[in-house]
Amino acid sequence: MSRLVVVSNRVAVPGQASAGGLAVALQAALEEIGGLWFGWSGRIDPDESGRLNEVDAGNIRYVTMDLSRRDHDDYYSGFANRTLWPLLHFRMDLVDYSRATYAAYRRVNALFAEKLAPLLREDDIVWVHDYHLIPMAKLLRELGVRARLGFFLHVPMPSSDLLAALPQHERLFEGLSSYDLVGFQTERDLERFQDYVRLFGRGRVISHGVLETHRGRRLRAGAFPISIDTAHIASQAAAAVNRPGVKRLDRSLSGRALAIGVDRLDYSKGLPERFRAFGRFLKRYPEHRGKLTFLQIAPVSRGEVLEYQNLRNELEQLAGHINGAHAEPDWTPVRYVNRNYPHTSLTGFYRLARVGLVTPLRDGMNLVAKEYVAAQDAENPGVLVLSSFAGAARELDAALLVNPYDLDGVSDALAAAMEMPLEERRERWQTMMELLRVNDITAWRKKFLAALRE
Ligand code: F6P
Repeated sequence: MSRLVVVSNRVAVPGQASAGGLAVALQAALEEIGGLWFGWSGRIDPDESGRLNEVDAGNIRYVTMDLSRRDHDDYYSGFANRTLWPLLHFRMDLVDYSRATYAAYRRVNALFAEKLAPLLREDDIVWVHDYHLIPMAKLLRELGVRARLGFFLHVPMPSSDLLAALPQHERLFEGLSSYDLVGFQTERDLERFQDYVRLFGRGRVISHGVLETHRGRRLRAGAFPISIDTAHIASQAAAAVNRPGVKRLDRSLSGRALAIGVDRLDYSKGLPERFRAFGRFLKRYPEHRGKLTFLQIAPVSRGEVLEYQNLRNELEQLAGHINGAHAEPDWTPVRYVNRNYPHTSLTGFYRLARVGLVTPLRDGMNLVAKEYVAAQDAENPGVLVLSSFAGAARELDAALLVNPYDLDGVSDALAAAMEMPLEERRERWQTMMELLRVNDITAWRKKFLAALRE
């Protein structure tokens, strides 16, 4: 059987902490079939990019490449996270148009391709992930690679006129159209991509999911909603409630309900809006004051990027402000924590929480929403309050869907979650859980790879 080769900027090398849904999901997919995982080592080389590191663990070989400070700053913090990230999350106001960082993006992609190509076999299935590595297929083909090449975009596909506002959009599209299969999180993303192909890409949509470029090259595109290892998370969460850290959290609540948010500290996650909505809830629903504690876990992410530093300052102020206005000597409404926790503890925290607050302004999927559901106690499940701008809202429509900008709406949803009868909580949870049992991480991986092999 052919090997699976996964290529992604972030690699979950054993023993290294890695935040983000991508790493968790790919780890599970690779463990099932084995293969090679190639990407950035997470390390900065003081001299130059290109040094390779290899680790074998179980059936996975991890090959990672160090980046120089300059390449890291311009490719990762620069073009990937100051240009593509805001654009793909519909934040044109935050896009940086520097041409220098685009050159670094090309350069680092070319170096990745150069190092990866000799490791590939003709019958490999190569699966490239996310916006950091869009040009990979074209670069690998230029180096003579003949393996099948698939791409999956973990983040949203923005509307076509936003994408077309990027000076390099044609070259990026040329890169994307060199893959055999391009996967998106939802049908909506796929439709927006097809619009782009028709309106700006000079290509044709032959039929839904079959595209042709103006050079006559055909490729396929589809929606493959990423998911979680549902059964594993359910049993992990049930066991995790006995972990000391989870018990301590439980005791510290003194019988109050918990609302939980877990997100990388990122402006796409809607954290200031979420904090404000919680403040609004305390004002509009005085009967619930003192009865619900909001715990926001937000590990710092991309801390070198200015917009992320600004966000951190804003959240510190907001948390202080809400607590100053509403705290009691024996109750702090907002607990705001910047560190990361082991995944097992997080699932225990989810299970304790009466409310899961997942309110991104835009999100490709959002696996926290899915994990929150999978972690619940079937007898007494909590309520998911979910942004309708997260990809997960397409499948988890039995959640309380909200517009994260609508603070009154989110505060109403918090009150509804507090007041929801057990019967309704069970019904909503069962609907979502049944779906997650079928559409789990294995189904995602199989569906994409089957389409790529076709
Ligand atoms: O899911 C989107 C994503 O950018 C992934 O590609 C990435 O692994 C994750 O978020 C975390 O971000 P970063 O790798 O920049 O810490």
